[in-house]
Amino acid sequence: MNSHERSSLAVHPAAGTTRSSDMQVFLKEFLRAPVRTASVVPSSPALAERMIAPLLGRSQVDRPPVVVELGPGTGAFTAALQAAAPGMRYLGVEVNPAMADHLAARFPGIDLLRGPASELSDALSQRGLPAVDLVVSGLPWQAFAGQAGTELVSAIAASLAPSGAYTQFTYTWTRWAPPGRRQHRTLRQHFGRVDLSSTVWANLPPAVVYTATRPLPVDDPAAAAG
Ligand SMILES: C[S@@+](CC[C@H](N)C(=O)[O-])C[C@H]1O[C@@H](n2cnc3c(N)ncnc32)[C@H](O)[C@@H]1O
Repeated sequence: MNSHERSSLAVHPAAGTTRSSDMQVFLKEFLRAPVRTASVVPSSPALAERMIAPLLGRSQVDRPPVVVELGPGTGAFTAALQAAAPGMRYLGVEVNPAMADHLAARFPGIDLLRGPASELSDALSQRGLPAVDLVVSGLPWQAFAGQAGTELVSAIAASLAPSGAYTQFTYTWTRWAPPGRRQHRTLRQHFGRVDLSSTVWANLPPAVVYTATRPLPVDDPAAAAG
């Protein structure tokens, strides 16, 4: 990432605003499916910038990054990703058809899997994509519940390049609840390093970002230890 790209992230209009049409879709889908949507409003540009930060510190710059976004919703993080790395190979995975339609209209030509995040591994191999540089996830807790959640984190870790990163946000006030603690524990089982950001106050509600790096092999003892 050069200094020009950095500054374009800061000023890019698509990355720096939350559009009223996005708000409307979010509210409607929250009322229809509150647990799966998990928020009344899209994430803020400030949270988006924190979520895509590993792209800015990427060391291998000889090829465009491969980026996967899980639960892109109306595209708060997608806009920031496109502003930061316009040449990236992007794959979005969104289960909600209304969100997917909205996203496809907002970002014409985007590669979007309309289905659950559990289809990630198949989607990557069907497309013949190389190891992923960044997985950005806006998925709610529900997607990480039980064995399916462990398998999802395992699939994310397996999809990443050794230098890759996985970012996941969670709301500060739910972080210490049992599902939040379980989510952190699962991350530590599948990654050699898990960093926690400071609170992003400029988000509704305030949130923190987990950045997981050094993906562990599936049969690593740390992963098996539970
Ligand atoms: C909290 S919203 C985040 C949306 C957007 N990333 C943002 O931050 O504004 C959660 C999103 O994940 C999607 N989602 C929930 N469960 C999913 C699953 N199992 N697979 C794919 N997407 C899912 C929802 O439809 C919704 O778009």
